[in-house]
Amino acid sequence: MCGIVGYVGPQAAVDVVVGGLRRLEYRGYDSAGVAIVSDGRIELAKKAGKIANLDKLLADHPLPTDGLGIGHTRWATHGAPNDSNAHPHLSRGGRVALVHNGIVENFVELRDELAADGITMVSETDTEVVAQLLGQVVEAGTELADAMRAVCRRLTGAFTLVAVDSHNPELVVAARRNSPLVVGVGDGENFLASDVAAFIEHTREAIELGQNQVVELRSDSVRVTTFDGAPAEVRPYHVDWDLSAAEKDGFDWFMRKEIYEQPKAVADTLLGRHDSKGALTLDEIRISEAELRQIDKIVVIACGTSFYAGLVAKYAIEHWTRIPCEVELASEFRYRDPIVGPSTLVVTISQSGETADTLMAIRHAREQRAKVLAICNTNGSTIPRESDAVIYTHAGPEVGVASTKGFLTQLVACYLLGLYLAQVRGTKFGDEIKATMAELETIPAAIQSLLDNIQPVLDLAAEFADQPSVLFLGRHVGYPVALEGALKLKELAYIHAEGFAAGELKHGPIALIEDQLPVFVVVPPKGRDMLHEKVVSNIQEIRARGARTVVLAEEDDHEVDAVADVLIRLPKVSTLLQPLVATVPLQVFACELASRKGHDVDQPRNLAKSVTVE
Ligand code: G6P
Repeated sequence: MCGIVGYVGPQAAVDVVVGGLRRLEYRGYDSAGVAIVSDGRIELAKKAGKIANLDKLLADHPLPTDGLGIGHTRWATHGAPNDSNAHPHLSRGGRVALVHNGIVENFVELRDELAADGITMVSETDTEVVAQLLGQVVEAGTELADAMRAVCRRLTGAFTLVAVDSHNPELVVAARRNSPLVVGVGDGENFLASDVAAFIEHTREAIELGQNQVVELRSDSVRVTTFDGAPAEVRPYHVDWDLSAAEKDGFDWFMRKEIYEQPKAVADTLLGRHDSKGALTLDEIRISEAELRQIDKIVVIACGTSFYAGLVAKYAIEHWTRIPCEVELASEFRYRDPIVGPSTLVVTISQSGETADTLMAIRHAREQRAKVLAICNTNGSTIPRESDAVIYTHAGPEVGVASTKGFLTQLVACYLLGLYLAQVRGTKFGDEIKATMAELETIPAAIQSLLDNIQPVLDLAAEFADQPSVLFLGRHVGYPVALEGALKLKELAYIHAEGFAAGELKHGPIALIEDQLPVFVVVPPKGRDMLHEKVVSNIQEIRARGARTVVLAEEDDHEVDAVADVLIRLPKVSTLLQPLVATVPLQVFACELASRKGHDVDQPRNLAKSVTVE
């Protein structure tokens, strides 16, 4: 949500900045713009719509190829996504240009104050208020970085700001509170961006910024201070993936590429998690075993697809550890006065590590003295930084807005956490833990075999492309899989889709069943309990009412043959791990169906990859 790029160095800033914006497109946006400081002036180009519109504007009205630059992709919050609300915004007289990600909560009060000084806004954004304030302070004789610190002290809300001053052709200044911002350190050039993808083709050396920090970027130096001007601590790090990971590699969509990367992503997330004797060693956990033994409740907090990973986690964690586990949407958590305390372990799941709802929820949990453990895919992001412990998933960069490999690796991390807690608390024997780890290690090959035989799912997507509605049913861990299957279809194909717990069918959803309505059903493995039998009878119930049943069942399950109109075979895995394979055909189905409908699979309408506002 909103992408920011800044550049100072010898290359043509306009090319570096627009190239960086292109790499941030996946974050979701509806307008784009760039500002260049050259020859004592600021030159601006901005346009509603995709970056292609900005490219066209730049082709017709080129910007200077010297100087330094800043750029922005905007996901509208205050004001419509039109040209005038697009960033960068200029101060009156055009001396200062500014881009912003976040929401300035006290902008009305500041706007009224500016109006009293005779400064009126040309846009409807909260951002322009900051540009005008900054311009006022700079015009009064304050150097840009000091002006930025002074303005930041007056702002409330979440903001990452990047600004330039036409009178200072060597300096880009940025400020960060809550919304993401990283520095890319080059040789005689430096970069700023919402994430490293924007500058990965130029440098893999990065600096993670903390909260309430201001960074002054020159071609040969990076200086970081607090909002009060005191030198600040920062964390340099090396990015362990390269440009090829951020490219499509011959696939039509990033999402499809990421689906096919899942065997590797799962294997990478499992790597190095146990010692030679098979005992789990989660060395990124900075909570002592003694503290983990005191935990009497686990609360999993997340949004979107990550929330569904949390729902799966509940089944595994409770079964293996016998610790009560609640799962809650981050956006609901802190507004209902939740009961958490020092003996609660809050587990937060976030691919991006920047989701504002999740971040606010963990801050609330920490205020209540709960321990917070983050499951996250993005090194250096805010959520792991503010947590007591982290399990990083190793999915590599996920560019498609709809999460795929992010989700599967989150599931793996949840299983690892459950097993680790069981080991620490002695609720499972060592050989049981080893056996589950051994099974997890077979999953990459299982996913690969599914993907090698995916053609029937692609054919199904062609067949169902015109369906107005699709239902998904599952039970136990198949229920979150059903929810995820439905979410994927909503997100990508803009089709009405619902996921239900199969057992709830008779309490309402069955009324929706009509002739030829496609219903996907995730069938649990044939185990010792009655789960399998119950789901098969659910399929019978809907089929009797005319539904077209698409049944996902394990490969030697012939009890479903008679009730399935379409059968999708899943590799044999144990019940708790089944989401790792059952989700994959549903991802492929949604991706293919959306692609056939001509939708932008990687950047679905209205959605953002990383939702950095509450
Ligand atoms: C957005 C994305 C979803 C994602 C959710 C949570 O809504 O479009 O794909 O699941 O945010 O994101 P997180 O980065 O916290 O996992």
